[in-house]
Amino acid sequence: MLPVHPVGVFDSGVGGLTVAREIIRQLPLETIIYYGDTAHVPYGSRPVDELIRFADAIVGFLIARGAKAIIDACNTTSAVALPYLRDKYAIPIVGVIEPGVVAALQATRNGCIGVIATEATVASNAHREAILARDGKVRVLARACPKLVPLVEAGVVSGPEVEAAVAEYMLPLVEAGIDTLILGCTHYPFLAPVIQEVAGPGVTLIDPATATVQELRNVLAAAGGLRGFHCSAAHNFFVSGDAQSFSQVGRKLVGWPELEATRKLELEKGGPHIDQEPGA
Ligand code: DGL
Repeated sequence: MLPVHPVGVFDSGVGGLTVAREIIRQLPLETIIYYGDTAHVPYGSRPVDELIRFADAIVGFLIARGAKAIIDACNTTSAVALPYLRDKYAIPIVGVIEPGVVAALQATRNGCIGVIATEATVASNAHREAILARDGKVRVLARACPKLVPLVEAGVVSGPEVEAAVAEYMLPLVEAGIDTLILGCTHYPFLAPVIQEVAGPGVTLIDPATATVQELRNVLAAAGGLRGFHCSAAHNFFVSGDAQSFSQVGRKLVGWPELEATRKLELEKGGPHIDQEPGA
């Protein structure tokens, strides 16, 4: 693993920017190559075989562009595609489910953990199984929130529509007694102020990005791949849909000028790198 190479990050859209933001905060010397599959967002209502196919094409692309390690910054593909991806590709691929679960188990005091996520993630039971494998006594209440991703993708992260949707999904969990809530979709940290307001001060929100990037740091350090010096190379952003709207919404959400240079690249329509060999 060459330290100078970038870290690959992918998601269905702008959600993975919450993880990229955390990489920049914790590992400011690293450069990022980001792929947002905006032509296919939302992932949350798609079948498992399709999600695996999309994630496979993206990981192949990121490896071909020189990624030294990859964060699957999407809970939905982390839930359903990680075993396939880790089996096929030799480079480290860090998911967001396990780190979030470990952080939530450390945070809970009453042993009642809520999970909000996409329909596909909730259907997979990935959070529930990961929690119960570590502590069989914990109560897990999971709720699919299909209205939230389209709002964030449109750059709408506050206001009456967001408040109504968050209240609809959250209030039953709060009434059931959760004291910890996993933001089990990488789009949701952009809604954290509204979610915290609805959940109240007694509920600890877990953004899995923090623990995920700690895991990335450990993986890079163990392989001698942590970058030790600053270099002026910028982060690179690619999308499968409209580059301008991604850069506009992304800039609104995280503010980075580099998003202006987002490029459109459709992997399924003749992208050169989708047929990556196993172990590449
Ligand atoms: N941000 C992704 C996740 O963490 C996917 C959301 C979607 O496209 O439905 O699950």
